[in-house]
Amino acid sequence: MYADHTILNDGVRLARFREALRARVRPGDVVLDAGTGTGILAVMAAQAGAGHVYAVESRGIIELARDVVQANGCADRITLIRGDVQTVSLPEKADGVVCELLGYAGLAEGIARLLPRVIESHLKPGAWRIPGDLRVYAAPVQHAALHEYIMLAHADAGVDLGPVLREIVQNYWVENLAGADLLAPPCVVFAADWSGEPGRSSLRQDAPMTARRHGVVHGFGAWFTAELAPGVTLDTGPHAPLTSWRQVFFPLPQPVPVREGDTLGFDLTSMPMTHGEMFHWKCAVARGRQTLFEAAYSNALSCHSMKAFEQGADGNS
Ligand SMILES: C[S@@+](CC[C@H](N)C(=O)[O-])C[C@H]1O[C@@H](n2cnc3c(N)ncnc32)[C@H](O)[C@@H]1O
Repeated sequence: MYADHTILNDGVRLARFREALRARVRPGDVVLDAGTGTGILAVMAAQAGAGHVYAVESRGIIELARDVVQANGCADRITLIRGDVQTVSLPEKADGVVCELLGYAGLAEGIARLLPRVIESHLKPGAWRIPGDLRVYAAPVQHAALHEYIMLAHADAGVDLGPVLREIVQNYWVENLAGADLLAPPCVVFAADWSGEPGRSSLRQDAPMTARRHGVVHGFGAWFTAELAPGVTLDTGPHAPLTSWRQVFFPLPQPVPVREGDTLGFDLTSMPMTHGEMFHWKCAVARGRQTLFEAAYSNALSCHSMKAFEQGADGNS
């Protein structure tokens, strides 16, 4: 319930999705809510004028959604279906889909893999999609206090904590980077456009960035924007109002000093594993042809469960 509580309490998220549903739903539309959770977006779609909403959810929380739908007087217009939205069969194709499977750094809940399948299986040609696109951004971050905290700078206990530190850097950290210094303008490391036909184009970019001043790189930050409807964008960046996604911080094992003009690379991929969507990332810092730092990480390699360190990371959705 913790994760569902966090996202229900995110006013920015709910306002953007309500705005998008009001813009997209035409009177009488058949709508698919892919991953309905507590049913909140299904109810919003019904309130926006949908003729019928199919609300699909894989977890037992669907029983709570049933009560939410009832409490809002929409039971005659919302059909709740327990199952995997990728394989479930629906009685009819939908005029539009709302799919809030946006995880940390946009990708952590597998939307890039799942939404194209949902579009292909369940939508009429030309149906609208919320979100219509996803862009994941990254930038090198200077944030000494955050790095000291994550890398246990104050754990001077006379005990070698090397194994713990090696584990720490194989994990991403969900943090608020509003106070961080971005040492280079953010660049797009992943983009997908689901707005057109067939709605599955996506691109992955290595991110060549150039330090705009001298400083110290403590890690890389990542966040996303998603266009929910024309003119309605959900922005989870460090300079946008804070959301339940906050930002994701990938710490370097040690700070790397940089000069203006040094180049920085950050590459992010997400892959489904048995225990959820895993991230792999590569970080590089170079001065001309000289490599100052280069390493690859993966939380799939975090063999000892970092759950205790990832309280926040497990919290979303
Ligand atoms: C981020 S939550 C969003 C819940 C709700 N739509 C909201 O906006 O509050 C995503 C939901 O999708 C569900 N989900 C994830 N993958 C799914 C799948 N393949 N089929 C059905 N539901 C899925 C999760 O269990 C979770 O409840």
